Amino acid sequence: MQPSSETFPPPRSGIRVRRLSEHIGAEIENIDLSRPISSAQFADINTLLVRHSVLVFRGQDLPPAMHVDFASRFGRLVGHIVKRFSVDDYPEVTYISNVRNDKGEMIGADRAGMIWHSDMSYLPRPMLGSMLYGVECPPEGADTEFASMFAAHDALPDSMRALLAGAKGVHDYAWHYATYLSHRKPLTDEEKAQAPPVSHPALRTHPESGRKAIYVSEGLTRTLDGMEEAEGRRLVVEASEFATQPQFVYRHKWRSGDLVFWDNRSTMHRATEFDNRYRRLMRRTTVEGDIPA
Ligand code: SIN
Repeated sequence: MQPSSETFPPPRSGIRVRRLSEHIGAEIENIDLSRPISSAQFADINTLLVRHSVLVFRGQDLPPAMHVDFASRFGRLVGHIVKRFSVDDYPEVTYISNVRNDKGEMIGADRAGMIWHSDMSYLPRPMLGSMLYGVECPPEGADTEFASMFAAHDALPDSMRALLAGAKGVHDYAWHYATYLSHRKPLTDEEKAQAPPVSHPALRTHPESGRKAIYVSEGLTRTLDGMEEAEGRRLVVEASEFATQPQFVYRHKWRSGDLVFWDNRSTMHRATEFDNRYRRLMRRTTVEGDIPA
């Protein structure tokens, strides 16, 4: 599909919207997030998030305090389990970055989210949404891909749908960390204790639209509940690979000043590779959601 400005119904607050792909993503073209947003703008942004799953706001100047103000409109903010990745004075804002401080330590989560996942699905109340803001973005690479779990759900083959319909995924941060983040300092026992494995339905119903979405991911869902570990894992990977085929994906190419707001209830995302001689400095807030059902 060609990107177009068609959305239905049109926003009432006067914000302009341009769709970015057939199933997922829209750009909001005329809003300045450093100023307080009105109730009408808030209502439109929320409606558009539920409809398009990923919203892009380009050209923003968003210091941490304003980032927090905007994100808090949508719910309670939850900081990263690893506290040293937080922005000074803003525990609810996390650096995603390859930048080091004067002591040579990483200031943020390095190589975060490079395997498909939905943010913090390992918590009993995972995230409604995430807002990632580009402070410094490499000139090439480091794109973020987003896949529509609505569109993937609607296209599920009957056999996979039947299998996932009654299943629960086991979401496990300590397993994820040990498997994919071995370049970092290991999690402490205290950090592990904050996120014991939890189970969530493999197919969930979006609390606002009632649409069904796939809710297992290669990156954070270790296996399926009550199944032999390796067989459950095989099915998780199969479902995740099905759900992230190119026809369900929008790929965001970052520019400094971009804020991308995505709905974790209806998407998976992953960061992509880049040349590590470039600095990448991103700030992220995450908004708590409901218990998946
Ligand atoms: C994330 O997984 O939240 C980070 C994605 C990115 O850095 O592109």
